[in-house]
Amino acid sequence: MSKFPKDFLWGGALAAHQFEGGWDQDGKGPSVADVMTAGAAGKPREITTTVEEGKFYPNHEAIDFYNRYKEDVALFAEMGLNSLRTSINWTRIFPKGDEAEPNEAGLQFYDDLFDELLKNGIEPVITLTHFEMPLHLAQTYGGFRNRKVVDFFVKFAEVVFERYKNKVKYWMTFNEINNMMDYTNPIFLWTNVGVQVEEGENAKEVMYTAAHHVLLASALSVKIGREINPDFQIGAMVSHVPVYPLTAHPKDVMLAEESMHLRYFFPDVQVRGYYPNYTLKEFERDGLNIPIQEADAEILAQGKVDYLGFSYYMSNVVDHKDENNDDEAANVHGKIPYQVDNPYLKASDWGWTIDPVGLRYTLNRFWDRYQIPLFIVENGFGAIDTVEEDGSIHDEARISYLREHIKQMGIAIDHDGVELMGYTPWGIIDIVSFTTGEMKKRYGMIYVDRDNEGNGTMERSKKDSFDWYKKVIESNGKDL
Ligand code: BG6
Repeated sequence: MSKFPKDFLWGGALAAHQFEGGWDQDGKGPSVADVMTAGAAGKPREITTTVEEGKFYPNHEAIDFYNRYKEDVALFAEMGLNSLRTSINWTRIFPKGDEAEPNEAGLQFYDDLFDELLKNGIEPVITLTHFEMPLHLAQTYGGFRNRKVVDFFVKFAEVVFERYKNKVKYWMTFNEINNMMDYTNPIFLWTNVGVQVEEGENAKEVMYTAAHHVLLASALSVKIGREINPDFQIGAMVSHVPVYPLTAHPKDVMLAEESMHLRYFFPDVQVRGYYPNYTLKEFERDGLNIPIQEADAEILAQGKVDYLGFSYYMSNVVDHKDENNDDEAANVHGKIPYQVDNPYLKASDWGWTIDPVGLRYTLNRFWDRYQIPLFIVENGFGAIDTVEEDGSIHDEARISYLREHIKQMGIAIDHDGVELMGYTPWGIIDIVSFTTGEMKKRYGMIYVDRDNEGNGTMERSKKDSFDWYKKVIESNGKDL
């Protein structure tokens, strides 16, 4: 018998801004992602004020899913996916974010897409926003540092919940809502909440202010969603990178424990419905003035999520004796204070450690802490693929990464008794990388002929992992 429940969601995950393209088609407005240039490992993406001539913005065309979605959905169906996680591009629905009426052409696109998925037996799993805030809201209102933006988001949520209430059951509010805990790297505050820290500002205070507003927006949306359709399952979505102590030295253990607050703050609020004491103490200790209003406690309490979605790619290690610790030394994906290499693990070409057991550990920590269903909505191996002369792509390293992680999921379900709803590996088809903007950092089981500079035919082809994953799904996780 399979270790996986019979209705397990086997899918793939994507984000509108990373694969749709069509950035200005049918009335879509520019989003925060549309002013991010291409970077590379060690070379941060630039955030420009407008779309500047002569600069390359890889998300504008991405992989042109907007115009090719039928062909791609047919491939997803052939692979056997029973679910697909993607996001609704906020600026297709509200191009500037503060309009009174939504853009019908944008709404129609998602109607057509969800119909196409459902026709093919694929359940849509929808993130309300995955780094796609309208640029206008970021530039005119200061993003989520401004409480007014909460209303704009909630209106957007209400419009799409109402429109798709009979087509979509599984929702998540904000993608990787906790990325902004690394406020030393501008990309995270920008993509999470449309915020840029000005010189002389207290960055931590700005971050927690925006965090508070985004948590309110999430909670209010959950409440409205439930009123629109009580059968909705609305989850949180956090990026989870567990932090291990380097040694058994109690100072390392305690440092790792405290570092985990970076990971737990958002889900603690979204799952439990109130601020954890360690954060309230931090506000006190650092003299942070966060505009929390009296009625907010009730909002947070009423907007608790039904499940916890999370991404898992790697783990971190901290060493209390690390003398090179420096907050400012954050790399492209965000290093945490006191972070050192794990001597036991290998890493990808982008320095992301490969740690399948860390996934079982994470599932256990979350399950013990929250006791609500868990959903792995991102996991995968970003790597350079080689296309052979005959067009085949032998991505054995990707298969091995996924296989080992799925094995650990099986153990977490079967041995530890964790309740796991599904698994949607990241970038099921090659897309633009979020942190670097590159195409060559590929996660897909479907290859897309496009390079870092935007050259290529956009033609799709199957990698070896395509048939492998199909077998995994057909056997409900037995045939690995
Ligand atoms: C997560 C994001 O951080 O990881 C995705 O939710 C992102 O948007 C994914 O693409 C992988 O990161 P990257 O930088 O390799 O694309």
